[in-house]
Amino acid sequence: MKIVTIVGARPQFIKASALSRRILAQEAINEVLVHTGQHFDDNMSDVFFREMDIPAPKYHLDIHSLSHGAMTGRMLEAIEMVLAEEKPDFTLVYGDTNSTLAGALAAKKMHIRVAHVEAGLRSFNMAMPEEVNRILTDRISDYLFCPTQVAVQNLETEGFRHFPCTIINCGDIMYEAALYYRDKSAHESRILDTLGLVDGQYILATVHRQENTDDLIRLRSIIRALNKLNEETPVVVPLHPRTRKLLDHYSLVPQFTVIEPVGYMDMVSLTSHARLVLTDSGGLQKEAYFFEKYCVTLRDQTEWTELVDGGYNILAGADEDKIVEAARTLMDRTGSFAAGMYGDGNTSAQIIQALKKGR
Ligand code: UD1
Ligand code: UDP
Repeated sequence: MKIVTIVGARPQFIKASALSRRILAQEAINEVLVHTGQHFDDNMSDVFFREMDIPAPKYHLDIHSLSHGAMTGRMLEAIEMVLAEEKPDFTLVYGDTNSTLAGALAAKKMHIRVAHVEAGLRSFNMAMPEEVNRILTDRISDYLFCPTQVAVQNLETEGFRHFPCTIINCGDIMYEAALYYRDKSAHESRILDTLGLVDGQYILATVHRQENTDDLIRLRSIIRALNKLNEETPVVVPLHPRTRKLLDHYSLVPQFTVIEPVGYMDMVSLTSHARLVLTDSGGLQKEAYFFEKYCVTLRDQTEWTELVDGGYNILAGADEDKIVEAARTLMDRTGSFAAGMYGDGNTSAQIIQALKKGR
């Protein structure tokens, strides 16, 4: 069986690390990795391949820093050429980026079956590029690997049971990665010492979503909230290049600690020792929960609604006062973190089993 896997953005490398490792252990499967090039800085891409032993991509398309249409279009064309050459049984895509949509669309038009890992998620906000990407990808996928029961229900509500596709709740692939790298991070990461951070006494924050960075009012308000919180508890922010460019552009000067994006070992360490997490990242909202940290989400909606329902996450949007209030509330919250919402950590095995059966 041959699988062509499309990756391109940081969270996809982390997801691929879990599945590709399991595929490598299977003699009967040949995985060809395609890196679209969407993320390209060493600390946004290569560091993950090095640290997490992800197989080197056979194809590197080097497509990045373009508008949505131009990026997706060029990827579509380049991936089509790869698929014509490789003739796989399946094309596998992760998540909701432009690389995801381009990979799924190229494959589907060539009658190659599409497997979508992290299917069924919805924010119900069609202004988000991610929402458009995930809805279109789901609709043309043959295998929809859902991370949660909420995701399965979303697909059922949209009538997917009437479509010729297979829907499986196999748990969250990021949960598997987090479990696998937890110990390695504890042994290898020195980030707390390097930054002079004390366990449980700092806030970890990330901001990169287009809806926040490309809207000056929202961005300014988030920066003000982080500045205010930093007066009481140190705030550390590994800053996405998109956000760094816009802070420079608007001459916004943060008072909290800004660092370059970090590799996954350092990120797991920063998350697992934080007092609280503030983020607009999809992946980090869940990782906060995996490492039993409360999270303030800097968005108006989340795809991970079970975290909000469970009291682990507060949606504060980009409103300065709401963010500060939510952070103070969660810093005082105590309670246990129920297990099982994201599966049992064996997501990759279930995906492989389903694809083998489907072949
Ligand atoms: C993309 C995804 C988003 C995901 C995020 C993960 C889409 C539509 N968005 O957003 O869903 O949450 O990845 O991080 O696919 N840049 C660099 N160096 C890099 C990578 C990006 O400088 O290594 C710059 C680009 O030149 C561009 C900006 O960051 O100016 C945005 O990059 P882009 O890939 O378009 O979108 P992300 O915001 O990273
Ligand atoms: N991450 C990382 N280094 C960083 C910031 C984030 O390794 O400096 C990891 C984070 O732990 C999570 C993933 O990147 O596993 C999330 O990616 P991102 O926030 O870029 O995208 P999203 O999940 O929102 O699509």
